[in-house]
Amino acid sequence: MTYSIALNFEDGVTRFIDCKVGEKVLDAAFRQRINLPMDCSDGVCGTCKCRCETGAYDLGDDYIEDALSEDEAGERQVLTCQMVPQSDCVIAVPVPSGACKTGTAQFAATVASITRHADAALEVSFELDQAPVFLPGQYVNIGVPDSGQTRAYSFSSRPGDKRASFLIKHVPGGLMSGWLERAQPGDAVPMTGPL
Ligand code: FES
Repeated sequence: MTYSIALNFEDGVTRFIDCKVGEKVLDAAFRQRINLPMDCSDGVCGTCKCRCETGAYDLGDDYIEDALSEDEAGERQVLTCQMVPQSDCVIAVPVPSGACKTGTAQFAATVASITRHADAALEVSFELDQAPVFLPGQYVNIGVPDSGQTRAYSFSSRPGDKRASFLIKHVPGGLMSGWLERAQPGDAVPMTGPL
């Protein structure tokens, strides 16, 4: 059994890691090639301090007050080198993703279907190379082919489904709307996120 831990970085990037039962967040992240801030990894320096926004966890009992005060612990601040999740958690990491040697996930996406809803909106589904995991309200950047530009859209499908859908406003003369008028099933677009 594993818990799903969302790491929300300061630059808006979210990465998801699996954390085994009894595993510390810092170790789980490192195992999945994300180098969270750390120095001592012993509960002494406080370098790994983050804030757990949602979820249940054990703070660990092997840290000193200088690293995490009682008040900080009361505000759900945690030391990732000691914290052991007891449920899925969302953790705010106070540094940009690049500082942790990670960044947005890249998806290879191909158009699966385009459904026009009157003149106002297009429902577009893409087949992705990997199932996206995301938090409610998060979005991805979708590249508009041959333009070098991206547009941001929130998912209208559920997390974990390789067929991802988006409700895209139809803007006459718009860059994405114009491309979608010509697009065919199987056309490829770059997609990055979630943010
Ligand atoms: Fe030093 Fe966690 S890395 S307290």
